Amino acid sequence: MNKLSPSFTYRRSEALFKRAKNVIPNGIPGHFNPASQLPMGTYPFYVDRAKGSRFWDVDGNEYIDYMCAYGPMILGYNNEVVEQAVREQLTKADTCTLASPVMVDLAELLVDFVPWADWATFAKNGADATNMAVLIARTHTGRRKLIAIEGGYHGTSPWMQAKTRAGIDKGDHHDVIRIPWNNLPALQATLLAHEGEIAAFISSPYHHPVYEDNVLPDPSYWEGVHRLLREHNVLSICDDVRAGFRLSMEGSPAYFGYTPDLSCYCKAIANGYPIAAVVGHSELNDAATSVFQTGSFWFSAGPMAAALACLKELRRLEAPTRILETGAALWSGLQSISADAGFELVVSGIPSMAYLRTEHDAGPRFHQSLCGECARRGLFLTSHHNLFVSAAHTEGDLAQSFEIFEDALKATKAQFKVE
Ligand SMILES: Cc1ncc(COP(=O)(O)O)c(C=O)c1O
Repeated sequence: MNKLSPSFTYRRSEALFKRAKNVIPNGIPGHFNPASQLPMGTYPFYVDRAKGSRFWDVDGNEYIDYMCAYGPMILGYNNEVVEQAVREQLTKADTCTLASPVMVDLAELLVDFVPWADWATFAKNGADATNMAVLIARTHTGRRKLIAIEGGYHGTSPWMQAKTRAGIDKGDHHDVIRIPWNNLPALQATLLAHEGEIAAFISSPYHHPVYEDNVLPDPSYWEGVHRLLREHNVLSICDDVRAGFRLSMEGSPAYFGYTPDLSCYCKAIANGYPIAAVVGHSELNDAATSVFQTGSFWFSAGPMAAALACLKELRRLEAPTRILETGAALWSGLQSISADAGFELVVSGIPSMAYLRTEHDAGPRFHQSLCGECARRGLFLTSHHNLFVSAAHTEGDLAQSFEIFEDALKATKAQFKVE
């Protein structure tokens, strides 16, 4: 790969996408759709293979990947420890007529890792977990309404989606009250206005919306939230689907110093294999026992073996600390390259999941072009979503990322005619 030459072309990606549009609505649906990767023509669409911190697209271009499959990859693609555990399980049973023992092992491990949790139950996607947590909270409290954060994402069930999305109407949001992040007076006012109606407050442990700077909790925010929730007998659901086990092996609430009633996990728990989990404390065991939630593939044992191996490996490597340090070194390197070139690179959120934005008179277009120029040189960053750092990213990856970023910044400056 000539890393300093923007020589990447995407002929095979484009040809595949053309075929896809004939047979798949929107070609590539959802968040992988090329429309979110601007400027058009700077990003590939289809992957051929992936290993460690890198992937290769169908045109043979190689990328250092700081999207990590939008979160699931945390140990590196095709990690041998995880793959070996999956292979061993698959020689026994995967999807079968009965549950596998590995499900019990995994529940015991999660209950061991998350200090306040007494039970765990499993599903496939993050939205399964957040839905299940909500049903458990409703069952336990006998109430229907939820408080959620404006811009907070919990999946694609109708109640979770923005009101403006196709197919969603006001009725879907009837029981969901959105309030701003870090705003205790708004939480208090909502609890008072809906006394006896609110089952749960659902929120990620810090605010990581798309297209916006990410925001950490104010120092006394979570303490204040839980004081108010206790006063009004409302449950606390932590949506740790994105940040889970990237901040702490005890779950992100431990990192921020609070204890929820239910936590939802998904993305990084099995290094890319499909599995989600809800954990809760013993008082919610009866409610969790009585809700009916299941699926054809929810008992698939391969992903459970992957999760067991992945979580143990994350603990062995002290991965949360490691990726926080890698992220801090990566972003400060990019920030100093930007500063030398005369731009402020704003980094928000936590270092292992940072959101980047370049300050420029042209608005987001400059940062979009910069990320596109990086992609065309083999450094995969998105401009609209937080990025992810994995335990597989090395100092060598960082050094190469800096070189590519510097070159991409020069090219972007030239496009925007900056002296
Ligand atoms: C915080 C959060 N919650 C829930 C979800 C939904 O997860 P899934 O897409 O697996 O349903 C996501 C997905 O990005 C997420 O980031």
